[in-house]
Amino acid sequence: MSTSTAPWWRDAVIYQVYVRSFADGNGDGVGDIAGIRSRLPYLSSLGVDAIWINPWYRSPMADHGYDVADFREIDPLFGTVAEAEQLIEEAHRHGIRVIPDIVPNHTSDQHEWFRAALAAGPGSPERERYVFRAGRGPAGDEPPNDWASCFGGPAWTQLPDGEWYLHLFAPEQPDLNWRHPEVRAEFESILRFWFGKGVDGFRIDVAHGLVKHPELPDLPPRPEAPAEGRPQHFDHPHWDRDEVHDIYRAWRRVADEFPGDRSFVAEAWADSPERLAAYVRRDGLHTAFNFDFLMSSWDAKDLRAVIDDSLAMLGAVGAPATWVLSNHDVVRHPSRYGREVVKRWVANETYRPEGPLDLGLGTRRARAAALLMLALPGGAYVYQGEELGLPEVEDLPESVLQDPVWERSGHTDRGRDGCRVPIPWSGRSAPYGFGPENASAAPWLPQPELWGELSVAAQTGDENSMLELYRSALRLRREHPALGDGGLRWLDAPAGVLDFGRDPGFRCVVNLSAEPYRLPEGTSVLLASGPVRDGMLTTDQAAWLAVRMPATS
Ligand code: GLC
Repeated sequence: MSTSTAPWWRDAVIYQVYVRSFADGNGDGVGDIAGIRSRLPYLSSLGVDAIWINPWYRSPMADHGYDVADFREIDPLFGTVAEAEQLIEEAHRHGIRVIPDIVPNHTSDQHEWFRAALAAGPGSPERERYVFRAGRGPAGDEPPNDWASCFGGPAWTQLPDGEWYLHLFAPEQPDLNWRHPEVRAEFESILRFWFGKGVDGFRIDVAHGLVKHPELPDLPPRPEAPAEGRPQHFDHPHWDRDEVHDIYRAWRRVADEFPGDRSFVAEAWADSPERLAAYVRRDGLHTAFNFDFLMSSWDAKDLRAVIDDSLAMLGAVGAPATWVLSNHDVVRHPSRYGREVVKRWVANETYRPEGPLDLGLGTRRARAAALLMLALPGGAYVYQGEELGLPEVEDLPESVLQDPVWERSGHTDRGRDGCRVPIPWSGRSAPYGFGPENASAAPWLPQPELWGELSVAAQTGDENSMLELYRSALRLRREHPALGDGGLRWLDAPAGVLDFGRDPGFRCVVNLSAEPYRLPEGTSVLLASGPVRDGMLTTDQAAWLAVRMPATS
């Protein structure tokens, strides 16, 4: 709880709004700013401190807004700059801060800079803002190096004039050249533009990718993953290079020009908490997503190692930890945890769980994971629909898939649409209140049957629901002086049980073992992820406990 004068971002609960799937205000089947505005009372009653909004800028939507054509305009699909300003103001009135996404690694191929670069031709100063190169091979018709696009296929596309350009993502997302002073100046100006409109910070997309090795060498072989522990760090030609930090030191100075605590959160997929900590030193960014937590297996030893490493490494540079279980790029966690094997996976690797799904199991674990996450020191992220316990939609028909990953992978990877299905608000059948009654179009992705029972309306007031669990946890987290920023102390527990205390008078116990676990003496249950009978915590159950204080003499 913020009893101190510590800045808000040290322990904020930030709700991720994937704008096209959150709420549709104008009935065109796609979520928008009007929809977000209409749901501010919901977010306020849920008890979140801030919202992070996925890209809302003008975009041809080749990657649902992560291909930005104009960073100072809102895409007409989502609204207008004036509506964005209204949203910021109204959110502030509800006590909710607003953090848009900024996408500095690349632009859209429709951005005026890229169009100018294409028109100006090889060797022109316009091409210097991106990464253009001649090809290899006698005729130059082979890509300049062997880098692969994160969405499948090569990271290079050849133009009719013979040159190739780099895109770590889709061809519609050309990478910018961050060694160019105009690129740096332009982004600092964009930050000022939105800070001036009152945003409280930015989520930085692909923050670890901006600077490439100057010689663009082929990828070195990845060191073999050790059987135990984490893979060794290696000098990657385009991920997590030390030179990126210089950019963020400049961004920090920009944020500090504005009143209030403006802050950044980096999407940086680093291969260790130590590498991640480099983003959040005192003169750099404020926070970074801690994907290690999300990538952990459902195993007490693994989770504890991630928690300890994160707190130690981030604490050493004075930064708070952040915790996240799901987002718009990964399989929703009830579906990850509902598998017989919950594999630990590594940064920059696509993970699709395998084997039959036991959603009851996944949901039980998701409830326990929520209590674990929200009891840890630092900030936490909640991805829209997570508070409803939504599973991944794994059976979307191929004909509706829109994520570029599907095409680029040659139809071998279905991509990320399954975690982006529009969320259910009310009613027993699609569109579950996603848009207005007289909507002219169906939601942009079909919602599954049976989502009616997961809707906000269906769960509200049902004390066993995921929604009420999140509401209670967020309320307690605000009220309890031990929660939020601070430290934790591990307490003795059998293998498979996580048990930690936080002062004053709080304890969190998570049972990941196969045996029931007796709750400790001298405690009483504040909140539990499932019914606690005879003082026993069953497998995959978590509880928040009040510790009876020793009497003071
Ligand atoms: C980030 C985003 C992802 C997007 C990619 C390219 O990883 O989270 O959704 O596709 O960057 O911008």
